[in-house]
Amino acid sequence: MTAIGIDLGTSNTAVAHVKDGAPHTLCDAAGRRLIPSIVSFHPSGTVIVGDAAKMRRFNDAPNTVTGAKRLMGRTWGSPELIEMQKRISYPLREGKNRTVRAFLRGELYSIPELSAFVLRKAKAWAEEALGETVTEAVITVPANFNELQRQATKLAGELAGLEVLRVLNEPTAAALAYNHVAPPTSDELIAVYDFGGGTFDLTVLRMSERALRVRATAGDMFLGGDDIDIAIATKMAETYLEHHYYDPRADPEVFARVRVAAERLKIALSTDLEATATLNELMYGQGGKAINWTFRMTRAQIDALLDPFIERSMKVCKEAIGMLKVAPGDFDRVVLVGGTTLSPRVRQRVTDFFGREPVPGVDPEEAVALGAAISGTIPVARKQKAAAQPVAAAPAPAAEAATAEDDYPVSEAYGEAGVVGPDGLFAQTGKAQKARSRWNAATWGWLAWAGVGVAIGLATAGVIGLLRYRQLRREASPPAVEAPPPPAPPAAP
Ligand SMILES: Nc1ncnc2c1ncn2[C@@H]1O[C@H](COP(=O)(O)OP(=O)(O)OP(=O)(O)O)[C@@H](O)[C@H]1O
Ligand SMILES: [Mg+2]
Repeated sequence: MTAIGIDLGTSNTAVAHVKDGAPHTLCDAAGRRLIPSIVSFHPSGTVIVGDAAKMRRFNDAPNTVTGAKRLMGRTWGSPELIEMQKRISYPLREGKNRTVRAFLRGELYSIPELSAFVLRKAKAWAEEALGETVTEAVITVPANFNELQRQATKLAGELAGLEVLRVLNEPTAAALAYNHVAPPTSDELIAVYDFGGGTFDLTVLRMSERALRVRATAGDMFLGGDDIDIAIATKMAETYLEHHYYDPRADPEVFARVRVAAERLKIALSTDLEATATLNELMYGQGGKAINWTFRMTRAQIDALLDPFIERSMKVCKEAIGMLKVAPGDFDRVVLVGGTTLSPRVRQRVTDFFGREPVPGVDPEEAVALGAAISGTIPVARKQKAAAQPVAAAPAPAAEAATAEDDYPVSEAYGEAGVVGPDGLFAQTGKAQKARSRWNAATWGWLAWAGVGVAIGLATAGVIGLLRYRQLRREASPPAVEAPPPPAPPAAP
């Protein structure tokens, strides 16, 4: 039986497995490697997931769920949720115990239930590619996820019919994938620069002989490739307005088409020096004649558009490494994760910042899933050993095995507000988390002991008071007098 690795991303989900000791991404019959993490509820009652759902996010936005990952494990009324409600197009409701529910075509769904649709698709996708039933998986989460968010992700996996062997930190998974192609020496300081579709984070890991630990993580939950698409689409809309006296931003559906074209243009400009986007029949001119429009962009133009976004990511990098009091030049390896790092401008700026080339050899869009698959070989091997069966899955190299086992459990001590600010920014160190965890444990311990002390004190005071009260009452009341004997009857004369 094969355990799969799943990168459950905000924008895309990738699935991988390990065969003959090497991790591979699993594709569908059409050769696609990524499943858009989008779920759309069709009026017919069908639930559409992936590429087909992506097409519906603009013409049926209130029933199409995007970015469910950002809602995972959130509490109703929390500042993060309020911020996110402004950014999503489907309605949310409060569930039991301040949980969050999405209201879609008259039904309420929990966030794990929504993610389970995507994970079910990932499972089916893997089963088709492998030709066998898949029951076990390692699912990845951002390093800053708290315990609630991790539990919710695990539940999503279980609802999808998977036994979740491990909930692994995304940067740790990515580092495992890169370690596989370029084994590190022990005691390396690793920077994982993850620029995806909706979020950016920089995580610092320390690779020692027996462990790969998260030392610090900082990020911006509202910085991703989607923002770049909107910037390009806005530029396109402004140009359209200049030429045709119509602003495509006036109609959300029209602007949505511009956004799709903008993303295609962006991706093309990562390989080409010049690209064009053609938008047919965006509007109709004189006599009802359809206007077909072509927008041209050069690499230099997109680079200028990208720079402010890259600058924001650099600020986060400075914050993360500043927490550990290390310099950008102190890193032994830099690892790129996320589709946005496929942009040459992003790669160049990262290289300039750290003063070294990122590790090559792994597709940044696949790294997390590949690492999750590597991590999945460890428990599978252990289980099989316990059952005294031959180890079918290729055992991971020692450093990888140690790494996955010792992956730093980030969460316990965190309340939601402590993780991500309403502005989407977060920053934390492994040390700070541990310290906070210790502080919490110590505080609760002391409070418990103080409570017991107060209770004993009150009980003792009560008993003493009662005894004293009784004594005072005894002293105050006149001594008991024996009833006088009844008078003797008069003597008989
Ligand atoms: N060649 C490319 N050049 C630039 N951007 C690209 C390229 N290919 C994909 N992208 C962008 O990468 C983003 C998706 O990245 P990815 O799939 O890594 O995100 P994710 O893991 O789902 O999201 P997140 O990490 O935020 O949870 C999209 O914005 C997409 O447009
Ligand atoms: Mg990602």
